[in-house]
Amino acid sequence: EKSGYASFMLKEIAEQPKAVADTLLGRIDSSGLLTLDEVRIPVSVLREVDKVVIVACGTAYHSGMIAKYAIEHWTRIPCEMELASEFRYRDPILDARTLVVAVSQSGETMDTLMAVRHAREQGAHVLAICNTNGSTIPRESDAVLYTHAGPEVAVASTKAFLTQLVACYLVALYLGQVRGTKWGDEIGDVVRELSEISTQVEDVLDTMEPVRELARGLAGEAGMNTVLFLGRHVGYPVALEGALKLKELAYMHAEGFAAGELKHGPIALIEKGLPVVVVVPSPRGRSVLHGKIVSNIQEIRARGARTLVIAERGDTAVVPYADHLVEIPATPTLLQPLVATVPLQVFACELATARGNEVDQPRNLAKSVTVE
Ligand code: M6R
Repeated sequence: EKSGYASFMLKEIAEQPKAVADTLLGRIDSSGLLTLDEVRIPVSVLREVDKVVIVACGTAYHSGMIAKYAIEHWTRIPCEMELASEFRYRDPILDARTLVVAVSQSGETMDTLMAVRHAREQGAHVLAICNTNGSTIPRESDAVLYTHAGPEVAVASTKAFLTQLVACYLVALYLGQVRGTKWGDEIGDVVRELSEISTQVEDVLDTMEPVRELARGLAGEAGMNTVLFLGRHVGYPVALEGALKLKELAYMHAEGFAAGELKHGPIALIEKGLPVVVVVPSPRGRSVLHGKIVSNIQEIRARGARTLVIAERGDTAVVPYADHLVEIPATPTLLQPLVATVPLQVFACELATARGNEVDQPRNLAKSVTVE
């Protein structure tokens, strides 16, 4: 039931702090070590893994894109990310030392299931990250790490995405832990910061009124049919996810770009008044990334874009170039998608609602895509 919310989507957005906390529950022990015994792939196998391949579709694909950054950083194992629909029809090079991670909320997505079968036929070990107990993908995989988002009813994925991210981080950190990497200390710190994320997601949800107001304003503008999204590093998949939400819900032309690609084409799209959402990485940590994106914001603004900037609280460098500023709590760079995605979900949901669209059941879409 909607428990007083106007839509399942609003309810599910609001449930995210709990979904994130539930997905961490029982998986970190009191000394900050991960206890993923439920992943029944022997540690001896995980120690020998020399390649990780992640397969998924749609929103789950975006969580996998983010996982690639985390896995390569924390484990130094090469990681490939691929759309399940592409992977299943090519001739991927896999063997018993390949760990394939299949991410799916429903556990029934046809392309992801076929990718799992394709991988197992070639001897790879398959770990499913899934939200639906007993569904087909976990049943056909070697092991499963369940996300504990609870049932997701709205077609547009929200809480499942955040919990997929948490599960991906857990897998990355766990691989780092069992293999021992030079990032040992960092892993302990990240596990601690991950435990605080649920409170930070709550904090974001409490400060969303300006985002809703902005979305309603844009919805009412005549001829406003395009929104672009820019990000770098883990902010790039966040930009893609923001664009996907807007397409699905508001039926608008929305595109996400890697900010570094601007000059290779997309900047030609910028015209006066075009709304561009920019996801800004933390000014701490990888400050190189931050400086680059501040320049990108300046570049698009100089060409007339209306900039909607999502940045860490206290990031004063972006203030002069932000027509609208959405502040999010400070997190380590790799964890930022957990807080940066939430305003984009709220934005799309509000804009679609203001346009009179049915947010729980967008046109032409099904919750689980069991055909090709
Ligand atoms: O159930 P799955 O996670 O395998 O579904 C994958 C996609 O179909 C799904 O994420 C879809 O893109 C959503 N409608 C996005 O909001």
